Amino acid sequence: MTTQPITLIDDPLAAARQSTIDLLHSHQQGFSLPQPFYNDERLYAIDMEEIFGQEWLFAGMTCEIPAKGNFISLDIGDNPIIVLRGAEGKVAAFHNVCRHRGSRLCMKEKGKVAKLVCPYHQWTYELDGRLLFAGSDMGDDFDLSKYGLKPVHVKTAGGFIFISLADVPPAFEEFPAALDHYLAPYDMENTKVAAESTLIEETNWKLVIENNRECYHCSGSHPELLNSLMEFDDTEDPRATPAYKALVAKKGADWDAQQVPWTMTKVGLQNRMTRTPCSMVRSR
Ligand code: FES
Repeated sequence: MTTQPITLIDDPLAAARQSTIDLLHSHQQGFSLPQPFYNDERLYAIDMEEIFGQEWLFAGMTCEIPAKGNFISLDIGDNPIIVLRGAEGKVAAFHNVCRHRGSRLCMKEKGKVAKLVCPYHQWTYELDGRLLFAGSDMGDDFDLSKYGLKPVHVKTAGGFIFISLADVPPAFEEFPAALDHYLAPYDMENTKVAAESTLIEETNWKLVIENNRECYHCSGSHPELLNSLMEFDDTEDPRATPAYKALVAKKGADWDAQQVPWTMTKVGLQNRMTRTPCSMVRSR
């Protein structure tokens, strides 16, 4: 008897992808994106696939998992992920999904384990993802070595943990190197979390990012913030006042003497790093 192949829909979002491209082409420079980018579920699904499923994402700090067996778990869309500290201090990340019948392995947001034991039927995994125990029901010829946890790409830099769900993640060398350089004086690996708060914003993620990327709203909404922080952090910014530039020059000399990195480093369009003085020098 021949088995008929099951036909799956290749890409249920194909039409939405083309519409998205058309919408992007209709976007007017200097204006918000067309409305569907903020409230259309199909575009959100494409975001999750093309951006959150491909890019390197900040997942946590290495100081949150200081010792072997410490873990943090998080969800990237529908993907539950576990990030843990394995043997010899190695940080690893896996899909938080048992290879037996797909139960979540770690139910808590953070904790410490000797092994990863599935709560459903107790399949047991080593901290490096290897399957160690699958009970006796699987039969004598069951090959444990084929059912380790699915790994997730992970990279650490300057105490930050980044993960990528992509099969082949994008190049990610320059920014981690800059992070390592800037944060070396602070020994982030050995810091401790003093307090945590969770802020859930009931909106599309793009609105959050757009709001974060402009400080046009700061003087009206956060005047207290601007008592200590400028609306800019670059002496090349047209808004940079002579007083600000003079202060940066003075502080820069101090930081150089202390061997503290501070000059503006821009990595592509996405990332930049600098050290900026907090002061009462106002921009207006
Ligand atoms: S689903 Fe994990 S052991 Fe069965």
